[in-house]
Amino acid sequence: MSDIDPADAVASLTDVVKSYRMDAVTVPVLRGVNLSVRLGHFTVVLGPSGSGKTTMLNLLGCIDRPDEGRVVVAGVDIATLDDDELSDFRAENIGFVFQNFNLIPVLSAFENVEYPLVLAGMEPARRRRRVMRLLEAVGLEGRANNLPGQLSGGQRQRVAIARALARKPKVVIADEPTANLDSKTGAAIIALMRWMQQKFHISFIFSSHDSSLIKAADDLILLRDGAIQSVRRKPASVPGDNAELAGDFDDLIDGDARGSRSLKALPDTAWLES
Ligand SMILES: Nc1ncnc2c1ncn2[C@@H]1O[C@H](COP(=O)(O)OP(=O)(O)OP(=O)(O)O)[C@@H](O)[C@H]1O
Ligand SMILES: [Mg+2]
Repeated sequence: MSDIDPADAVASLTDVVKSYRMDAVTVPVLRGVNLSVRLGHFTVVLGPSGSGKTTMLNLLGCIDRPDEGRVVVAGVDIATLDDDELSDFRAENIGFVFQNFNLIPVLSAFENVEYPLVLAGMEPARRRRRVMRLLEAVGLEGRANNLPGQLSGGQRQRVAIARALARKPKVVIADEPTANLDSKTGAAIIALMRWMQQKFHISFIFSSHDSSLIKAADDLILLRDGAIQSVRRKPASVPGDNAELAGDFDDLIDGDARGSRSLKALPDTAWLES
């Protein structure tokens, strides 16, 4: 049973069971998880190390399938998709941001963001425009040609966020996105994602131990030993009403006037289109 209207859910898990098999041993990880993730909100999954957060995020991100139970993302029961269909579905609907950034080291910032659009077969001129808008949105238009090794940790994570958003996903899954960042850079990254969420109504699902990310959450899911221990939803929360984070975004773009202007100039709709 869901505690929210199914129409308000961007993803849901119903009676989900997941184990890993290691040699002859089966390790149960998720033991009957029921969860609805609210559309357009910041959902943070908390829990001790080994409690199953990454496993649950991988299921919500359609990287993996459950042993038992149902996973529905963006209205689609993933059991109805074969592996190829699932991978297309994932590319179209879900963006990923990882703790260790996972950028391709031999590609520039521009090319990393461009890559999913190349795979999607987007026409080159449109692709270039979109990549530049994304890099502007994360304040990195001046670093387009840098390789990941020539960027700071915060900048790499901003490239990863731009890449995650390239195909206008409905959901972004971020597994400990601030764990490798200092607290100031982490706060700026959170502010950036918050801004993306508010502006473009993208749903974010995180796992995190970071107290600033936890404070920014609309919904907090506590996982313990592979079961949901509690779900706390901000009552009647307007998605992203944590105004105190907004100022950090200016820090994020290092007071770059060009960057700030272009951010404000971005249209609310058809943001990525020319
Ligand atoms: N591919 C795998 N094969 C076997 N066991 C695994 C695999 N992935 C995870 N596990 C086990 O599943 C359990 C849950 O792992 P998971 O990575 O989901 O935890 P987590 O909550 O994300 O932890 P952390 O906070 O440390 O990232 C752990 O006991 C882990 O050892
Ligand atoms: Mg984990």
